[in-house]
Amino acid sequence: MPFPSISSILAGLVAAGAASPLHSTIARRSSSIAVTSEAPASYGIPLESFVAFSIEFSSFPDFAGNLSAPNTFSNNLLNNLGNLIGTKPYIRVGGNTQDYAVFDSTLDQPLVGIVDPAKSPDYPTTITIGPAYFESYLTWPGTKYIHGFNLGRNSTAARAGLIDSVRYACKALEDGRLLYWELGNEPDLFKTSAQGPVRPSNWTEQDYVDEWLHWSRAIKTAMEEPCPNLASNDSYKYYAPSFAGTSNSLNPIVTWQDGLDTDKDIAVITTHNYISGATVPGVTLQGTLMNHSSNIASIAKQLNESRLLAALPYDLEPDLPFIMGETNSLYNQGRPGLSNTFGAALWGVDFNLWCATNNISRVHMHQGTNYRYQSWQPIDTNITSKGTKAPYYGNIAVAAFLGDIVTSTPSVVNLPLSNEEESAYAAYVNGKLTRLIVINMMEYNNTDYNSNYTDDYPRPVEQYTFQLPRESCGSVGLQRLMANGSDAITGVTFDAYSYNYELQNGLPVLMHNVTRGETAEVGWDGELCVGVPRSSAVIIHFDEENHGHGWM
Ligand SMILES: *[C@@H]1O[C@H](CO)[C@@H](O)[C@H](O)[C@H]1NC(C)=O
Ligand SMILES: *[C@@H]1O[C@H](CO)[C@@H](O)[C@H](O)[C@H]1NC(C)=O
Ligand SMILES: *[C@@H]1O[C@H](CO)[C@@H](O)[C@H](O)[C@H]1NC(C)=O
Ligand SMILES: *[C@@H]1O[C@H](CO)[C@@H](O)[C@H](O)[C@H]1NC(C)=O
Ligand SMILES: *[C@@H]1O[C@H](CO)[C@@H](O)[C@H](O)[C@H]1NC(C)=O
Ligand SMILES: *[C@@H]1O[C@H](CO)[C@@H](O)[C@H](O)[C@H]1NC(C)=O
Ligand SMILES: *[C@@H]1O[C@H](CO)[C@@H](O)[C@H](O)[C@H]1NC(C)=O
Ligand SMILES: *[C@@H]1O[C@H](CO)[C@@H](O)[C@H](O)[C@H]1NC(C)=O
Ligand SMILES: *[C@@H]1O[C@H](CO)[C@@H](O)[C@H](O)[C@H]1NC(C)=O
Ligand SMILES: *[C@@H]1O[C@H](CO)[C@@H](O)[C@H](O)[C@H]1NC(C)=O
Ligand SMILES: *[C@@H]1O[C@H](CO)[C@@H](O)[C@H](O)[C@H]1NC(C)=O
Ligand SMILES: *[C@@H]1O[C@H](CO)[C@@H](O)[C@H](O)[C@H]1NC(C)=O
Repeated sequence: MPFPSISSILAGLVAAGAASPLHSTIARRSSSIAVTSEAPASYGIPLESFVAFSIEFSSFPDFAGNLSAPNTFSNNLLNNLGNLIGTKPYIRVGGNTQDYAVFDSTLDQPLVGIVDPAKSPDYPTTITIGPAYFESYLTWPGTKYIHGFNLGRNSTAARAGLIDSVRYACKALEDGRLLYWELGNEPDLFKTSAQGPVRPSNWTEQDYVDEWLHWSRAIKTAMEEPCPNLASNDSYKYYAPSFAGTSNSLNPIVTWQDGLDTDKDIAVITTHNYISGATVPGVTLQGTLMNHSSNIASIAKQLNESRLLAALPYDLEPDLPFIMGETNSLYNQGRPGLSNTFGAALWGVDFNLWCATNNISRVHMHQGTNYRYQSWQPIDTNITSKGTKAPYYGNIAVAAFLGDIVTSTPSVVNLPLSNEEESAYAAYVNGKLTRLIVINMMEYNNTDYNSNYTDDYPRPVEQYTFQLPRESCGSVGLQRLMANGSDAITGVTFDAYSYNYELQNGLPVLMHNVTRGETAEVGWDGELCVGVPRSSAVIIHFDEENHGHGWM
């Protein structure tokens, strides 16, 4: 238990000489933000393990290690999140490489991959895996997984390998490690993939459904002998259809109409989303990522899908949780200078909370070795050094804001603000206002390039005034998500804690040069004023007894 008690936080806090983040110019604003004492009509309820990850199939051995060399750094980072949100992040092992990986039971290595830079410099597109691959599922205690089976490769060897792999996958995931299965990643791109189509152009939704049913049944049959417990109808469940989007070459709604859930073995509806692409012209940190409107517009496609599914006739309407099974900032593994910055961490907080508000009830942030948008790099490579990256701190802030979902499920609402470069959310627990968060996404550069300003342009502090229920009157605790600027890629803290690899292998370490333990006063009239430096976020805790409780 590395964290101090609440009383010491509120009493001692700012270490001598620590810089206050609030020393700068103050931007004034007129209107106050109204917050009701009970959750308004439109709220979202996150599922347990709302903060979840998707790990690229070919990178999973790097992230998890093996039994002789488990990756304890990754495990520490996962535990930090679990301590805050009540459940260690669920891990989906999949992505493009799931459909390239062909199982060969005679292979004596976990994974052999061939990178074809013309197809992707970031991951192998020809992959063989052996039984040792599955050892990586045994390294992180208390973690649940979604294992991605290959649907894409349709050669005889690949199909035989799929069935041969079942006993290794189910044995590794027995004893509580299995959450669900997945069969195929983004099959709506199988006909059009830039890395080579794997289905003919006349392949339809019905063809997909027929294949999915055929192979999911074959997998179940193959599981009956080695893992009878996992092959029962109660246990045998899927994340599906894991489409890349809502308007690619297959329509997700039509797959349900065509009988995707004939066997009633789908547990969770998954969809994937990227805000934009790494090399798409015109993509900027401020305009594309640090932009609440951009998140709304992007997630609207998925909300539409979810509404259309709910409107299907009763016998087809799935009535299942709807989640992001794979997502991150910019597809093609992110762009340096954007996806790896503190600005992207702030983007991630807004993206995740907009999902939570709208009942996209779990979000698997996609990870891969050397990926620019990664929350952490699990091993040293000649491209990227092992370490905690800025986006991880966004994951931490989301977990801290939602709190322990298992014991105190929050209702999450968005508080509309006038500017698209900022957002705010409220969390209610047991009908009571418990936490607020303000995410200021107005770009402030740490290094230089603060266009139109001199080099010593001080960081503006935006003032947010809330009109709260009167019973909120009293002292509230603040936790800040902070770095020197939106372009910072190091020096990020949450509540003055660093989770950097170099410090304690990803365990929380209190930084004495960052302010901690601030409080603010809610007036007798329910007014609260909080300053938020541009390009930072603050969580406001109302239940003083629980301030910091998530740290236990
Ligand atoms: C989210 O789901 C909850 C519980 O299922 C429901 O009460 C609420 O109205 C839903 N909210 C939205 C925005 O759909
Ligand atoms: C486990 O991983 C380490 C580090 O990657 C590697 O050196 C070792 O060969 C692996 N052990 C087995 C049994 O695969
Ligand atoms: C298998 O994939 C190839 C492309 O790699 C495609 O031409 C062929 O039609 C596919 N076969 C089936 C049965 O989908
Ligand atoms: C789809 O196209 C393939 C040739 O690529 C052809 O063999 C097959 O019959 C077509 N299927 C349908 C249903 O038209
Ligand atoms: C299991 O599910 C399948 C597919 O829906 C069904 O045909 C079968 O009868 C079920 N078995 C049991 C024991 O309920
Ligand atoms: C923010 O995103 C919206 C929706 O994509 C877009 O219309 C707007 O131009 C963006 N703002 C900036 C400053 O680029
Ligand atoms: C939502 O779905 C409707 C009906 O299919 C479609 O017309 C509309 O363009 C969709 N909107 C978005 C944002 O995808
Ligand atoms: C970097 O590492 C990869 C994989 O280990 C290797 O193939 C590549 O040649 C290395 N590149 C350089 C410049 O050393
Ligand atoms: C921050 O720096 C980038 C260049 O790296 C520049 O494009 C951007 O306009 C700067 N932002 C501000 C607010 O000055
Ligand atoms: C800098 O000034 C130019 C010209 O007035 C303006 O177009 C631009 O938006 C300004 N940039 C920032 C970041 O304020
Ligand atoms: C952040 O700013 C402080 C104060 O200017 C400086 O001492 C520190 O080195 C900066 N950190 C990073 C990571 O740039
Ligand atoms: C605090 O100290 C750490 C370690 O010396 C440094 O990396 C970081 O930039 C400092 N942060 C600030 C805001 O000065």
